[in-house]
Amino acid sequence: MSTITAGASTAGAPTGRESAGERVERLQREYVMQPWAKQGVPSIAVQRAEGIYFWDYEGKRYADMSSQMVCSNLGHQNQQVIEAIKAQADELCYIAPGFAAKPRGELARLLVGIAGAEHFQRVFFTLGGSDANENAIEIARAYTGRPKILSCYRSYHGSTLGSAFASGDWRRFAYEIGGSAPSFIHFLNPSVYEDGYDRTPESQARCTKQYLSQLERQIAYEGPETIAAVLMESIVGANGVLVPPDGYMEGVAKLCHEHGILLICDEVMAGFARTGKMFAWQNYDIVPDLITFAKGVTGAMIPLAGVIVSTTISRFFESHPLPCGLTYSGHPLACAAGLAATQYYLDNDICAHVTQLEGVLGPALQYLAERHACVGEARCIGLFAALTLVRDKRTRELLAPYHAAASPMPAIFARLRQRGFYTFGRESNLNICPPLIITEHQLNEQLDTLDEVLSWADRQYCA
Ligand SMILES: Cc1ncc(COP(=O)(O)O)c(C=O)c1O
Repeated sequence: MSTITAGASTAGAPTGRESAGERVERLQREYVMQPWAKQGVPSIAVQRAEGIYFWDYEGKRYADMSSQMVCSNLGHQNQQVIEAIKAQADELCYIAPGFAAKPRGELARLLVGIAGAEHFQRVFFTLGGSDANENAIEIARAYTGRPKILSCYRSYHGSTLGSAFASGDWRRFAYEIGGSAPSFIHFLNPSVYEDGYDRTPESQARCTKQYLSQLERQIAYEGPETIAAVLMESIVGANGVLVPPDGYMEGVAKLCHEHGILLICDEVMAGFARTGKMFAWQNYDIVPDLITFAKGVTGAMIPLAGVIVSTTISRFFESHPLPCGLTYSGHPLACAAGLAATQYYLDNDICAHVTQLEGVLGPALQYLAERHACVGEARCIGLFAALTLVRDKRTRELLAPYHAAASPMPAIFARLRQRGFYTFGRESNLNICPPLIITEHQLNEQLDTLDEVLSWADRQYCA
């Protein structure tokens, strides 16, 4: 047996005297594999967080205008969720998924009620969004006996094999090195602004028609009887809060229904009041068969995710064994957090608050789009918003084309960060997705910072 003595290795040893913050940052840089990044890059060492803010070790305050990865929906350190985790830890930390545990059943019942008990019956719990989608795919295949999963190019569904193959954006390329999976088929979904349309009813109708007729043909050529499910983000999130044109989602749902294809709505980012509804699909006239969720269910205070399963599919698995299972499925600590967080959304009518603040954020972003040469389009639904940045408004030339090797966007994010405004984006999109408990005053303060940095970007990047 070998023993490891803390500090015995010289790798990662401090160079001279380092502060507590420097040590935290160095250990992260030297020992922790960073997702989606070259290794060894510096990061902000965070000492504490509360509400919409977090602080580094030098006391610098950042407004969290992305809710981290659009997951800290209730802000940082929500006391009700913390208390629920503590109480559950005292009572029962873990019991295997096959046992009945109080917070597990209570949370499943609550989520089914929010989704609509007239259509949904059970929840399969997982740990994160990726494995929620992975298991939804498995459930859809087992139920239909069909192999193919159709999903959008403009999408992200996760980083486990199945969810990565289903993802549309370039992050899946690395997973395809060993050969792409034959039963994962992609179709192009609308991005109204990038595709040359606008938000007038006529233009949206043309956009919807074009994309639906293309999808209809693709389904026919793939063979509808071979397609288990269409997997879609209810609103594409990480790829730029792509609010679909009117009628598009209803059209996709109709096509699915006509061909016995299941509709899986990925609510991992858009769910839990982000759009002013508990689930984003509730903004449309549709009912999916499976709903995947994660992030907001606990306000990210502990990992929890899952699949809400329709009554019809739930009943099928009363006579067929479910081919899915995870050691931590419905972990009691996570379910207690999920129960407290979900109850918090409901008790405090977070949806109403989000809808009210959409009335502030939406017009403010439209104003920025009119005022700034570098803002091509502003999109906002609830507190789910993004700006598309351009070099030239007339030609709609994007600041960073799809999968471009070099991009000015990191410089813009860095300038925002310097001013205490933290967010992220992808390609030419700058996301604005603050915690849903943000006040109007806090929001306006941060919009002033955004305005100032966009003026700088106008001068830097626009002719
Ligand atoms: C829409 C969507 N689905 C799935 C995922 C994957 O979730 P996770 O990172 O929790 O595995 C994400 C992550 O951002 C997402 O935005």
